[in-house]
Amino acid sequence: MERLRRADLDPDPLAQFAAWFAAARDHGVHEPEAMTLATADAAGAPSARMVLLRGASEAGLEFYTNYTSRKAHDLDANPRAALVFYWDDMGRQIRVEGPVARVGREESAAYFRSRPRDSRIGAWASRQSTVIPDRETLERRVRETEARFPDDEVPVPDFWGGYRLRAVRWEFWQAHPFRLHDRFRYSPAPGGGWVVERLSP
Ligand SMILES: Cc1cc2nc3c(=O)[nH]c(=O)nc-3n(C[C@H](O)[C@H](O)[C@H](O)COP(=O)(O)O)c2cc1C
Repeated sequence: MERLRRADLDPDPLAQFAAWFAAARDHGVHEPEAMTLATADAAGAPSARMVLLRGASEAGLEFYTNYTSRKAHDLDANPRAALVFYWDDMGRQIRVEGPVARVGREESAAYFRSRPRDSRIGAWASRQSTVIPDRETLERRVRETEARFPDDEVPVPDFWGGYRLRAVRWEFWQAHPFRLHDRFRYSPAPGGGWVVERLSP
């Protein structure tokens, strides 16, 4: 495994993330966009699940989901979250933390329109995170939704859309033998820009 040195790090964590993400793709990592999203409810109880990264810019890291899901209830009550990427083949972990806000309606609609028809039907058919009696219930809802929107025009449901996490803390972790891993944390510098600190593994 390559050593991670301070001199190799981009002063901008988003650029550092983009470089590692591109390297993961080049390396053939399967679904490098898969990330763990951790939220906490109003009482502070955490929960975590996988979601897919659908955009990364100065504005933040984006994912799309159902606004009535458990994660959405958590984010309504406590709009802060943490993300973790782990690319085993490269021995790399990236942690990101920050406040979360909904993506604008128009932007969510534009992303929704870019999805295949089956995904758009699925978004309508699934009341994510609610209890259903059986698989047939889900399949019936899919058939009903297909009948409701017979042509390609499947509008974005108002209960579906994106979230954007504005990164205020990043950590880049590179595995090494004997647990002597390299870790660098970026946190906001008081006058703007980022402070980069090495953390003990
Ligand atoms: C690799 C992977 C990617 C996933 N991507 C998404 C996603 O982008 N959006 C989403 O809502 N659920 C996604 N899921 C499903 C979630 O992990 C989860 O089951 C679902 O969102 C309900 O979570 P909740 O009840 O905590 O809200 C993904 C699951 C896996 C394994």
